[in-house]
Amino acid sequence: MAALFLLSALFKAALYPAQMAPVLRVGIFCGQIARFLGIKIGNNMQTYKEKVAAAVDYLKPRIGCAPSVAIMTGSGLGESIDAMDVRASIDYADIPHFPRSTVRSHPGRLVSGTLAGIQALAMQGRLHLYEGYSSQTVAFPIRVMRMLGISTLILTNAAGGLNLAFHPGDIMVIEDHINLTGENPLAGPNEDDWGPRFPDMTAVYDKRLAGLARNAAISCGWEIRKGVYAGLKGPSLETSAETRFLRQIGADAVGFSTVQEAIAAVHAGIKIIGLSTITNINDPDNPTPDTEAGIVAVAQSAAIRMSAIIESVVKELAIL
Ligand code: HPA
Repeated sequence: MAALFLLSALFKAALYPAQMAPVLRVGIFCGQIARFLGIKIGNNMQTYKEKVAAAVDYLKPRIGCAPSVAIMTGSGLGESIDAMDVRASIDYADIPHFPRSTVRSHPGRLVSGTLAGIQALAMQGRLHLYEGYSSQTVAFPIRVMRMLGISTLILTNAAGGLNLAFHPGDIMVIEDHINLTGENPLAGPNEDDWGPRFPDMTAVYDKRLAGLARNAAISCGWEIRKGVYAGLKGPSLETSAETRFLRQIGADAVGFSTVQEAIAAVHAGIKIIGLSTITNINDPDNPTPDTEAGIVAVAQSAAIRMSAIIESVVKELAIL
C-alpha cells in the first residue's frame, strides 16, 4: 500500500513537478521527523537479527542460567535428555519469533536446567526444511542459543542406515556430513558479528567430543558406529536409486535434519557433536517400506542409550 502511494507520488511529481514539489517536501520533512523520533514508517518489519535479540531477551530471565551446552533432540529422541535436572520448560510458541515444530514426534519445548552439573539447554524438537521453513528459520534457535552463551552443541537425529553393516537401533557418531538440501543458512548478507563469510568446514564435528561419545558407549558395553550423514530436504523417503547414489558418494546414514544447524553452529564457532540413531536400513537391492511410526519406535527404544551417552559426554565436559 505504502509502496503504491510512493510510486504514484513519484509519477505525479515527474508529470507535474511544480505542483507536486511542496507535497514531496512535506513528505520528506515528515520522514525526517519520524526518523529523529525513532518511529518506524512502513511495514514495521523486524530484521532477523532483531528477532533473535527479542527471543534472547525473552529467554534470559526465564531460563535462569548461563548455559554452556545445548542439546537438540531428533525424532522420538525427546526422552534422551531424561537425565537433565529441569529448571524451566518453555513452549516454542511462547518465545517471540521462535518457529513452531509441526512434527508429531517433536514436542516443541525448550528446557533449561543442569545436566551432570553443567548448565544446559535442550530443544525437544527441531525445525525442518520439509516443514516449509527456510534455512534461516531452521537455524534461528542456534543463533538464539549462541547469544545465550552456549559453546557446545549436541545434535541428535533419527536416520536411515545406508551402510549395510549397520542395524536398526545402532547409534552412529557423525564424523562429517554432506549437505544435499540445496539450502544454506549463511546465504545472503553475512552477519559479521556472528561469524565469517566463508567458514571453514573441514572439522565440523569435534573429534575430541566424538571420542568421548565413543568411549561412553564402549564403557557401557554398547557397539557404536561412526560415519558420514547425508542431509536431504525430505519429506519423501529415498528411492532405491537415490539410496544407491548416497552410498556411492560416501554416506553411511541419511536424514532430513542436522546439516543446517551444524552450518550455523560452525559459523558461530560452536563445537559440535552429532549422534544419529539408525532407525531403519535402506538396502537398495532389498528395499523394504518404512513408516514414520516404525522410525519413531526404534528411535524411542534407543533414547535411553542416547541419554546415557549424552550425559557421559557432558560429564567429561565438566571436567575438561
Ligand atoms: N531417510 C530419511 N530420514 C530418515 C530415515 C530415512 O530412511 N530414517 C529416519 N529418518
